[in-house]
Amino acid sequence: DWNTGQFIEEKTRAIRKQVGTGRVVLGLSGGVDSSVAAVLLHKAIGKQLTCVFVDTGVMRKDEMAQVQEAFAPYDMTVKWVDARQAFLGALEGVSDPEQKRKIIGRTFIEVFDREAGQVQADFLAQGTLYPDVIESSGVGGAVLVKSHHNVGGLPDVMKLKLVEPLRELFKDEVRRAGLALGLPEDMVWRHPFPGPGLAVRIPGCVTAERVAILQNADAIFIEELKASGWYRNTSQCFAVLLPVQTVGIMGDERTYENMCALRAVTSEDFMTADWARLPHELLEKVAQRIVNEVKGINRVVFDITSKPPATIEYE
Ligand code: XMP
Repeated sequence: DWNTGQFIEEKTRAIRKQVGTGRVVLGLSGGVDSSVAAVLLHKAIGKQLTCVFVDTGVMRKDEMAQVQEAFAPYDMTVKWVDARQAFLGALEGVSDPEQKRKIIGRTFIEVFDREAGQVQADFLAQGTLYPDVIESSGVGGAVLVKSHHNVGGLPDVMKLKLVEPLRELFKDEVRRAGLALGLPEDMVWRHPFPGPGLAVRIPGCVTAERVAILQNADAIFIEELKASGWYRNTSQCFAVLLPVQTVGIMGDERTYENMCALRAVTSEDFMTADWARLPHELLEKVAQRIVNEVKGINRVVFDITSKPPATIEYE
């Protein structure tokens, strides 16, 4: 539409003016905001932009491949960083929720700072939206810091000048801009995903094995939500791997395996949320598929608490 088109034209000019011949680095998470910021910046300054995608090892199943596919049509410079070992290594043996968050935040900043340093960037671009600006009372660099729960000293990359082309926009406007810039529907309508990723959906210690189990269960849930049309009618849906084992029966064997919770909520701003009334048939299909297809899970439960009193995430 006209407004979106005009926004893109104006921002393109403004970005060129601000950046000049400088180099820009952007942390691409694959979420809506950073993805739209990336394609907008790419349109404005092309090869002066370098994106950095960090695979933390606690992302959704095939996350990096999906983001690579979405960005394949653009001739964009993206550093795909496999940091799975660094994250999983640092998380080894840690079960305290706050510790897990801190470790992930710190490791992310370390990895991103190193990669960004190699770019020799003059600017740090972020997909800060208008609600983020209000929430952080306009403190620059809030998004990167916020999403990784500020940890200690200021990393080098945070000393760069900021480029925040989405600062005036609300989420729905960002989605429209993303579509107009050619991002696939799938990317534009993605549910939000927390910085600490699956680590906060695996209460207790995070291991590569538990991450793989959860990724497989979560992927089935998301696939069925999309197939049934419910993905677009919910705000955030995911599976959680509970630190509880219960008895099950497989053929004539008794099993003693993990329990998986399904979380699905609707929400305007994620400050409050209501549990989504998913149809029983859909839940049944997801539960059956998870138990049959995911080795290590023998029981599935559906979370029917709203926020408050429960939070959306489990840690
Ligand atoms: P809660 O669990 O507090 O979550 O109801 C509200 C929203 O925030 C997301 N969330 C996070 N996002 N880093 C993030 O980037 C975090 O540490 C974090 N914790 C929660 C959560 O996914 C939900 O959308």
